[in-house]
Amino acid sequence: MKNPEHVKNIVSALRKGGASRLQVISDFDMTLTRFGFNGKRCPTSHNIIDNCRVISEEGRKKLKDLLHYYYPIEIDPYRTMEDKLPLMIEWWTKAHNLLSQEKILKNDIAQIVKESDVKLRDGFNIFFDQLHENKVPLFIFSAGVGDVLEEIIHQAGVFHPNINVVSNYMDFDDNGILQGFKDPLIHIYNKNNTVLKNTDYFQQLCTRTNILLLGDSMGDLSMADGVADMENILRIGFLNDRVEERREKYIEAYDIVLEKDETLDVVNGILHFIL
Ligand code: C5P
Ligand code: MG
Repeated sequence: MKNPEHVKNIVSALRKGGASRLQVISDFDMTLTRFGFNGKRCPTSHNIIDNCRVISEEGRKKLKDLLHYYYPIEIDPYRTMEDKLPLMIEWWTKAHNLLSQEKILKNDIAQIVKESDVKLRDGFNIFFDQLHENKVPLFIFSAGVGDVLEEIIHQAGVFHPNINVVSNYMDFDDNGILQGFKDPLIHIYNKNNTVLKNTDYFQQLCTRTNILLLGDSMGDLSMADGVADMENILRIGFLNDRVEERREKYIEAYDIVLEKDETLDVVNGILHFIL
């Protein structure tokens, strides 16, 4: 924490406002899911599809090449957002185009998720259940793949009715074959009200003025920009990769930074205190 006193004050204000004023706005990949497990990287919602058995050898190789080229750029602490933006759009666009050529079936998504190594962070059940029990809306704003992340949450048994998701959804043809992705494209740098203003959830979003924001990338910090009358916001950031070099920027931007923490324990503790 850069400013523990500020964090203390915000947490007190969130507690005072209670459940009726609160909403949680969270990123999905590498925020609600684990970054690693047993020394191995865990997949993002995109990676789950990239590596599944229905993708051709050639497609898989091309998708892996994209990851190896663009991911280091995504997390490069020495390049600016402006510099990265066109490259990130390029990554998402190329990956979605490749996936759209692979004849992925809607009916296969559940099995693909089952066979993957994805894991929600430890303590996820407490997190999801606590918010549901207290009727606190959980808004998941993800540049990942909506169909996949919803399936992950379903299979974990925690897709409660207080959850709303805005993400990249697959577009299937009448035969249930993937033909593209629905607009608008959500990448790491447009997670803000430019994509939110046309969604049903936007109105609801504005009525809860106390916010707990969870993210793992600098782009996640704008996820609450659409909340016009925001009163209090506590930003918790998971710093997963290139920790030493990115620490300073994260501590500057997030109120609390969790380094290489694969759990939701801190978030759960704060929620327990607030609710
Ligand atoms: O849910 P979230 O917004 O975190 O999803 C975005 C993440 O997905 C990015 O941080 C990026 O590393 C990853 N990604 C990926 N494959 C792509 C595009 C993005 O793994 N083709
Ligand atoms: Mg993320």
